Amino acid sequence: MILAVESSCDETAAAVVKNGREVLSNVIYSQIALHTEFGGVVPEIASRKHIEKINQVVEQALDEAGAGLKDITAVAVTYGPGLVGALLVGVSAAKAISFATGIPLVGVHHIEGHISANFIENKELEPPFVCLVASGGHSHLVVVKGYGEYEIIGRTRDDAAGEAFDKVARAIGLGYPGGPKIDRVSKEGNPDAIHFPRARVADSPYDFSFSGLKSAVLNYLNSCEMKGEPVNTADVAASFQKAVVDVLVEHSIEAVKEYGYGKFAIAGGVASNSALRGAFEQACAENKIAFYHPSPIYCTDNAAMIGVAGYYEYRKGIRHGYDLNAVPNLKLGERI
Ligand code: KG4
Ligand code: ZN
Repeated sequence: MILAVESSCDETAAAVVKNGREVLSNVIYSQIALHTEFGGVVPEIASRKHIEKINQVVEQALDEAGAGLKDITAVAVTYGPGLVGALLVGVSAAKAISFATGIPLVGVHHIEGHISANFIENKELEPPFVCLVASGGHSHLVVVKGYGEYEIIGRTRDDAAGEAFDKVARAIGLGYPGGPKIDRVSKEGNPDAIHFPRARVADSPYDFSFSGLKSAVLNYLNSCEMKGEPVNTADVAASFQKAVVDVLVEHSIEAVKEYGYGKFAIAGGVASNSALRGAFEQACAENKIAFYHPSPIYCTDNAAMIGVAGYYEYRKGIRHGYDLNAVPNLKLGERI
């Protein structure tokens, strides 16, 4: 029984996970409403809200699981990457619980959590497989070789996919949080209305670059303004989204063919995008690849995924001391 805590960005979350794959509770206090008026996450506000909410969220997670601390085997907590002040709240709370009760403490990598979200609803999924992690801060193609064993074969050279969604959403006046809004508006637009570039990185088939695409959207908006032409927001959103989806799908399918496991999973906030999921369903079916994805609630930040990753880390014998610190730029596969 893992009690998991996640506070790396703007969600204060706690969960109880049994035997690695059974979620007994998954409590998420989202701060989105609080940050909306600023057009993005304000780190200092996020940290302060985490402090206010963390104990309440942990208690609720235990209550909903029908568990007490006496039932808990280990406390798992995200210690990086993320916003340092935000991470510190979860890390401090987990260390306090561990110190007060003697329950072992396990620090978890946030992206390892995102990848592990796939194990919750796909009981048959086991490594090795290829996973695309697309979140607000990361766009990685990862070979999951075993539990807690990763090889990053592709990464973004500039903006992450989610970051591009957020920046373009702001530019076309949809505001924060950008991804879900573009997803929704795109359903009313024509994805072939405007051709935006699909970037390739010269020497690496699996790396991504989204800043050129973002600039192309901004240039398009500027030129419309200069010519006095109206902008069809839904068409811009749908065409931008199609450009991101095309690149993510093409690189991922190439990677799965090259690495040959015939299994592919997606993770991170952008993995909840409906057009992306549809495109992967189709591409994987055409290429006879088994496709796995978490439900949207396990794609965006949550603690259940940290509980799953924490379970496999615990089983490997990973334990952390009370000197565990927040590591804002923690690398995937790195343990500190
Ligand atoms: O994984 P996540 O919740 O937090 C990070 O670890 O970054 O990802 C948040 C990112 C944001 O950039 C958000 O705009 C994007 O995921 N996102 C989406 C969708 N839902 C969230 N992007 C595209 N379509 C969505 N439906
Ligand atoms: Zn995340």
